[in-house]
Amino acid sequence: MRTATTITGISELTTNDEELGRLTGAALVFEEERITWVGPEREAPAADQRIDLGGRAVLPGWVDSHTHLVFAGDRTAEFTARMAGRPYTAGGIAGTVRATRAATDEELAANLRAHLAEAAAQGTTCVETKTGYGLTVEDELRAARLAATEADEVTYLGAHLVPPEREAEDYLDTVCGPMLDAVAPHVSWCDVFCERGAFDAGQSRRVLLAARERGLGLRVHGNQLEPGPGVELAVELGAASVDHCTHLTETDIDALAASETVATLLPACDLSTRQPLPPARKLLDAGATVALATNCNPGSSYTSSMAFCVTTAVLQLGMSVEEAVRAATRGGAAALGRDSGDGAVGVVRPGARADVQALDAPSAAWLAYRPGVPLTHRVWRAGRSLV
Ligand code: NIG
Repeated sequence: MRTATTITGISELTTNDEELGRLTGAALVFEEERITWVGPEREAPAADQRIDLGGRAVLPGWVDSHTHLVFAGDRTAEFTARMAGRPYTAGGIAGTVRATRAATDEELAANLRAHLAEAAAQGTTCVETKTGYGLTVEDELRAARLAATEADEVTYLGAHLVPPEREAEDYLDTVCGPMLDAVAPHVSWCDVFCERGAFDAGQSRRVLLAARERGLGLRVHGNQLEPGPGVELAVELGAASVDHCTHLTETDIDALAASETVATLLPACDLSTRQPLPPARKLLDAGATVALATNCNPGSSYTSSMAFCVTTAVLQLGMSVEEAVRAATRGGAAALGRDSGDGAVGVVRPGARADVQALDAPSAAWLAYRPGVPLTHRVWRAGRSLV
């Protein structure tokens, strides 16, 4: 027997749906894990239970399309040194690799679950996470398996860094061969850190082509620390997203705007690594699809707060509240190929997964109007109440 729940008392409903738009005085109904009805409250159909939000804003749950949550240890000392002026480099990843390899399965699983719970408590209802702190066949397989049991989407990032004990070309043979074979059953995506100090364009292409051959979707870490070939490569290979996009040329922006590749911006990372902020306004004005994500990891961006990213996008990247909320919900869903069809996330419409959050605020504008104030009131994921 299916149970229907009607949510009323919604002062402002952000749907991200072209036809429904943004509604006031709205209600929505979900049955089990799907939304079945959205419309004016006075027309809401009868349901088994009714939850009155008392005049609060409702929006899709956050879709965090870029995190690195299979890790152990922390890098507080590196962060503190950075705040004192030391630059961020890709090499710091090796510290987390050491701690992750030394951790037990139980420790890694507990840490992963704790961070997912922390994100859910703040309104995140769909999460992508990656391997990339193992960098041996055994450790990457362990990370992929663990992630697959807990996260919505899992990405293989064996090409995060050449581990200190390996030579680059020899390591790439492993990444494109036995490591890929081992993780492929557990992941949907492959990513590569295409940056000075990690992998160059030729090496990145090799990894992505091997992954595509295995049927994996592609994503790229690109243009994080300086201008580089990441965006060009991502667009050329039809990657679902290119993430960071901090240092973009006009050519990169035009290429993204003319493509289906989502530009995923990670402003918390840019702040935490003392990088400039990404050219969000230029990307949006050019017509690119933009996503916002936390990049939660112990090195470059240790936050699980999508609200912080939205607030920063509005206050510092020149995005409107509507653009920022959309980028943190439907934009992330597009980056994960989950923005359309039955069970879509990042949207509130019949047929979508019942992933919604209610804010302790009358409108989504309060996310930027009241920066830093925790506004999460209720969270439902697939119709199940999390908060
Ligand atoms: O997205 N850029 C590469 N990977 C992570 C950083 C990981 C780390 O420093 O541990 C990122 O920022």
